[in-house]
Amino acid sequence: MSDIDAPIIAVRGLGKTYATGFTALHDVDLDIRRGEIFALLGPNGAGKTTLISIVCGIVNATSGSVRVDGYDIIDDYRAARTLIGLVPQELTTDAFETPWNALSFSRGLFGKPPAPAHIEQVLKDLSLWNRKDSRIMTLSGGMKRRLLIAKALSHEPRILFLDEPTAGVDVELRRDMWQLVRKLRSDGVTIILTTHYIDEAEEMADRIGIINKGELVLVEQKSELMRKLGRKQLTLQLHEPLREIPPALAGYGLELADHGNELTYTYEGAGDRSPIVPLLEALDDAGIRLRDLRTTQSSLEDIFVSLVREAR
Ligand SMILES: Nc1ncnc2c1ncn2[C@@H]1O[C@H](COP(=O)(O)OP(=O)(O)OP(=O)(O)O)[C@@H](O)[C@H]1O
Ligand SMILES: [Mg+2]
Repeated sequence: MSDIDAPIIAVRGLGKTYATGFTALHDVDLDIRRGEIFALLGPNGAGKTTLISIVCGIVNATSGSVRVDGYDIIDDYRAARTLIGLVPQELTTDAFETPWNALSFSRGLFGKPPAPAHIEQVLKDLSLWNRKDSRIMTLSGGMKRRLLIAKALSHEPRILFLDEPTAGVDVELRRDMWQLVRKLRSDGVTIILTTHYIDEAEEMADRIGIINKGELVLVEQKSELMRKLGRKQLTLQLHEPLREIPPALAGYGLELADHGNELTYTYEGAGDRSPIVPLLEALDDAGIRLRDLRTTQSSLEDIFVSLVREAR
């Protein structure tokens, strides 16, 4: 089945209307590439968990189809599902079980033969080895989150969904998780994660999809997204304050700030030639002397906020 260039997940025309009559997904098309880290970003209620739940066979779609490595998620449910590990958004734990048993059992559910060495490795990777025989209810919140990841990896899935893996997780643990995700990717696992932390997407993802009100607003290579939409701002600190922008500089769309002590200039950071050089020459011609200058670039966060605002 696996054609190396074919998307590992192909979502076509996917729609979901819940029994309440609420439509959580509208006609979503999405291809996930083999081996990538794909980050799905969107505000609360955008439809991220709904989309993941459909791909994982927990929620039924109202329309459209999903193929996982060629297997239809309805007609070839078991084959499709076995390829997937899911780390759910909600903490669900078998309070009286131990991590060791929970992982062994979960693996068995997927019809995989026992593999104690694999389970040991996963528990070690998630720093749970020394708690392997503790009752789950005695673990801390962060340990329970790690356990959810360990469980999702127990059957050696080729695709891992992480639905807000780092919500409520401390900084150190977040870093550990990122490292684990990178290791999994280097082992060839395809990873789809949702997050509210844009820095997480910026740090981790190869591609980013933005979903808002059930519609996939944009899917883009992260670097391309930042390049296309990444505006830069140049702040010029002036030697002497200006009351107004000299007419000779009117064409640059400059703005005065800090009581006339600063000029700010916003421009597209994408082109090969920076528009800064001619501006600096024009400033010089106008007799404006600079104390200092700095540039800043918009983050993915700025991009995201402006996109979602636009879509409203
Ligand atoms: N079982 C359900 N019945 C009715 N509506 C639902 C159900 N599950 C989800 N919804 C609605 O569908 C919409 C999308 O929910 P979903 O959980 O997919 O959002 P999300 O993007 O994961 O949000 P969050 O960032 O808060 O996790 C929301 O408006 C939600 O209230
Ligand atoms: Mg969700």
